[in-house]
Amino acid sequence: MTEALWYFARGSGVVSLVLLTVVVALGVGTRSGRPAFGLPRFAVSLLHRNAALLAVLFLTGHVLSLLFDPYAQLRFFDLFVPFAGSYRPVWLGLGTLGLDLVLALVATSLLRHRIGVRAWRAVHWLAYLCWPVALTHGLGTGTDRGTWWLWTLSLGCAAVVAAAVVWRLSAGFTGFPQRVERRVAPKLRQMEEVR
Ligand code: HEM
Repeated sequence: MTEALWYFARGSGVVSLVLLTVVVALGVGTRSGRPAFGLPRFAVSLLHRNAALLAVLFLTGHVLSLLFDPYAQLRFFDLFVPFAGSYRPVWLGLGTLGLDLVLALVATSLLRHRIGVRAWRAVHWLAYLCWPVALTHGLGTGTDRGTWWLWTLSLGCAAVVAAAVVWRLSAGFTGFPQRVERRVAPKLRQMEEVR
């Protein structure tokens, strides 16, 4: 039973990291305001939200299974307060920080209509901090940290996020909706006049 819990903890940690990578890439796609990854705009946004939900589910499984794992000896408190645990405090603290950031992103997204877009966006920038923190945690603390496959997977995730960030910083990234509007607006005005 303990062994199964331990395997589940490791597996769910790895899946969470992959899902967070997908969420970051889709988030950038959503922000671009255009079709991306071969999908229409609404589908990118829907996938971003659902992948984030799935990441939270796997993260919940990751931390709960570790809470009952006798080896790590985590207290409930250690799941939310970074760098306070006795088991590999720095590497584990990064995981805790990552979880706190994920919770902040989820909470502000659920309250978006109440807190306003500005506050929501300000917190959402934290996603760019959350991802490397989670990556470093996994590479630093996991049983599989020395294995070729975890390094390959982590490098693959890093390549995806790096590509998304380069795209995000590229010229004209957010210009797409404005360009479409410039092209469509005169036609809409013409149609209004005809009516
Ligand atoms: C953004 C949040 C997190 C992500 C993406 C994440 C991901 C990962 C990954 C990829 C591993 C490596 C698994 C392996 O070696 O196969 C790992 C290990 C681990 N994580 Fe997390 N983690 C997160 C948060 C947390 C939190 C909040 C805790 C508990 C306070 C935690 C505790 C651990 C422990 C104890 C291990 C070592 C498990 C072992 O190999 O024995 N993690 N995590």
